[in-house]
Amino acid sequence: MRVLKAAAFSLLLPASIAQLVTRTHDTHDFFALHLDDSVAPENVAQALGCHHEGQIGSLQGHHKFSIDRDQAPAVELLLEELRVQQKLRRRGSSDASLLQKREDGLDGVLWSQKLVLKHRLHKRGPVDLSSLPKPDEQLTPRQVDQDAIIRQKRIASDLEIRDPHFDKQWHLFNPVQVGNDLNVTGVWLEGITGKGVVTAIVDDGLDMDSIDLKDNFFLNGSWDFNDNVREPKPRLSDDRHGTRCAGEVAAVRNNVCGVGMAYDSKVSGIRILSKEINDADEATAINYGFQHNDIYSCSWGPRDDGQTMDAPGLLVKRAMVNGILHGRDGKGSIFVFAAGNGGVADDNCNFDGYTNSIYSVTVGALDQLGHHPSYSEACSAQLVVAYSSGGGNSIYTTDVGTETCTDKHGGTSAAGPLAAGAIALALSVRPDLTWRDVQYLMVETAVPIHAEHDEVQLTPIGREYSHQYGYGVVDTYALVQKAKDWELVKPQSWYTSPWLRVQKDIPEGDQGLASYFDITADMLKQANFERVEHVTVTMNVNHTLRGDLSVELRGPQGIVSHLSVPRKYDRAEAGYVDWTFMSVAHWGETGEGVWSIVVKDTNVNEYHGVFTDWRLTLWGVSIDPASQLPHPLPEENDDDHNIEDAVYATVSIKPHTKTQPTSVATDHPDRPVNEKPSDTVAKPTTTAMAPTPVEQEEEEEAKPSTVTDETSPSQTASQGFLPSFLPTFGAQPHTQIWIYASIALILIFCLALGIYFQVQRRKRLRNNPHDDYEFEMIDDEDDDAEAPLTGRQGRKRRGGELYNAFAEESDEELLSEEDDGPYRDGTGLTEKSHKNEPEA
Ligand SMILES: *[C@@H]1O[C@H](CO)[C@@H](O)[C@H](O)[C@H]1NC(C)=O
Ligand SMILES: *[C@@H]1O[C@H](CO)[C@@H](O)[C@H](O)[C@H]1NC(C)=O
Ligand SMILES: *[C@@H]1O[C@H](CO)[C@@H](O)[C@H](O)[C@H]1NC(C)=O
Repeated sequence: MRVLKAAAFSLLLPASIAQLVTRTHDTHDFFALHLDDSVAPENVAQALGCHHEGQIGSLQGHHKFSIDRDQAPAVELLLEELRVQQKLRRRGSSDASLLQKREDGLDGVLWSQKLVLKHRLHKRGPVDLSSLPKPDEQLTPRQVDQDAIIRQKRIASDLEIRDPHFDKQWHLFNPVQVGNDLNVTGVWLEGITGKGVVTAIVDDGLDMDSIDLKDNFFLNGSWDFNDNVREPKPRLSDDRHGTRCAGEVAAVRNNVCGVGMAYDSKVSGIRILSKEINDADEATAINYGFQHNDIYSCSWGPRDDGQTMDAPGLLVKRAMVNGILHGRDGKGSIFVFAAGNGGVADDNCNFDGYTNSIYSVTVGALDQLGHHPSYSEACSAQLVVAYSSGGGNSIYTTDVGTETCTDKHGGTSAAGPLAAGAIALALSVRPDLTWRDVQYLMVETAVPIHAEHDEVQLTPIGREYSHQYGYGVVDTYALVQKAKDWELVKPQSWYTSPWLRVQKDIPEGDQGLASYFDITADMLKQANFERVEHVTVTMNVNHTLRGDLSVELRGPQGIVSHLSVPRKYDRAEAGYVDWTFMSVAHWGETGEGVWSIVVKDTNVNEYHGVFTDWRLTLWGVSIDPASQLPHPLPEENDDDHNIEDAVYATVSIKPHTKTQPTSVATDHPDRPVNEKPSDTVAKPTTTAMAPTPVEQEEEEEAKPSTVTDETSPSQTASQGFLPSFLPTFGAQPHTQIWIYASIALILIFCLALGIYFQVQRRKRLRNNPHDDYEFEMIDDEDDDAEAPLTGRQGRKRRGGELYNAFAEESDEELLSEEDDGPYRDGTGLTEKSHKNEPEA
């Protein structure tokens, strides 16, 4: 230790000399340090022999230091020593030398990290449209609705929209597939056009010299982090993405191109995607100007190749929470993220730590026909969808150049900014909405999509949730109307379970390993917790093939979140290490009752694994706002949890329900009947094989909080889960459930047969990752008895002529191309997904 310290001191450069050197990553190394109040950054710089570069963005107590590259190794060693020391102190080591104060004053260093340049963030679109077949004019019934065209013209004239290509902006007003648009014109007609709201486009630049953007460009909120200047001018030949996104939000109503969703709002450009950047700059970027920039529109993330699992670093996570706590004068920055374009590669937005953050509004895509474009990822963290490319068309918006437009914008990249534009309109009438109010408004006003091959669940607050479409497509008119008299929600509270230790082999195949945790009313009360918004599960699985794993979370009120799904391209020899999955599907639940998690190893092969442990956090609204403190900034994941606080979780092998449940033999006496999931009390684990349906029923009965929990007024859906026209047979609710579940099961079996034959006809289904959901849903009908209607709901077909054969064809061809193309290994696909469109 002593030697190290001496080494560090000897490196000390006179400050005046250090000042003169231009410090870049070419010549210097950089460190981020979190300091407590006891120590001044200047003193830390001196003790480390570094130069203090200043605070990191808006993160209080976080500072950047630099040092000549040759001298960096000594600093790294010293910081590592501090880390070890901190950790031992945290663990309560009694070693006297640890308890002594350091002479160099570095006790005040709470956390440190070497900053490295990375290029891990990728734009999310447009998806290469050449892979999508062009619409065949002969076959496509273009039902031009003359009335709609007249309406569109009248709207344009009433609003004095002279933009020459407003008529190409079907996402704003769709005269062909009438109704398949963001329903924004009614808002404009009320004079709501986004005045006073600023959206920061965090991207590859923003062409502020475009005549279509100039008047709405907000220089004060802008910064170029790639070239370190204020003006976020696109400089590389493919720096077009940000400008296109900006046009979607705030293209000026003038005589160029079209208009933005909120055409009187402002846009800032924050440029980060054009070069490698480090975490400190990324953290600074997403808080940049956060008193002026209201919304941060982010159409990027880790690679969408179906093999990546990546989350923002701690600094960036802290910056996000910092934005939530302090941005917009404490109401919270609104982060909008594109869900991701890895749909065809089985990617899922829960493998992306930006889209699965509770602090972001995650937006997937819907094509002009109202169908799922195959690129758009699904996940339980997805809140809504917005229109984008697919079905033979793309988004028409502004492009780089003084008067340039493009009709080629697309991917989830184009969906995110449209949702941001809708939010800008809502904020312009209600600037006092907090970040959570915005999410509530989206949940409550999105229009559910009833697609043929999608599972839709009716939630306890009467909303319909789908992993593919979230709560549905953004309806701007409804969003803004609801915002007008929205009552602000109480502050956020949360309940976190202890670490639940499982440590059991995961059986291969359909079965899965289930672990339960019972949350009592008392626990929630103590946590000042009233009602669920987001749910997060942090977990550890040790496995040799990550792509084989799937995880589902079952809430006490019968809602199932598919936290993780198998990914065929994900060959990582790894499991999950302290990975946090998120779900918005339980929005509005009380949180009380048994939560269960089922981990499956879906492929029977030579790859195996162990489910180590997990912990659950319910995030939601507080009971008493006065006593609720804001959430502290996130800490580094601490590997201590494997050793200490953990309690043993109740586990079981999940009932095998793939076959007809009635055919499951009753010859498994080894399973304890009526095994009641326990609460936090440490208890030896119980493992057992497939229980009989009878046992399942008893298990359902054992759960304290199912549909009979009618204690709260807003649980209208759970009270009315049986439509009033259905007879009750004079039976108890549970019995009714079973009667209806059985009927449903029979109906669904017949339906399933029908679907099965359709499936045969459509090879597109072969690779559809949601087949799993489809069949699981059917099979799960028995143990999903709390929500017997949800399955049928999912089969509701979006009616009518819009559902033409053409779009099916698209997906089919796209997929078959993937099938025998170079994409099997996923690498070709990656390039393809990220390729930028050639110039319009
Ligand atoms: C769209 O907006 C209009 C008002 O312009 C409203 O009446 C309607 O309910 C909204 N929703 C749909 C799906 O059209
Ligand atoms: C931009 O920032 C400058 C200095 O920070 C300030 O004087 C000016 O008023 C700001 N302009 C706007 C429009 O906020
Ligand atoms: C994961 O399992 C392997 C093989 O059983 C073992 O060697 C390794 O230590 C385990 N890793 C963790 C983090 O438990």
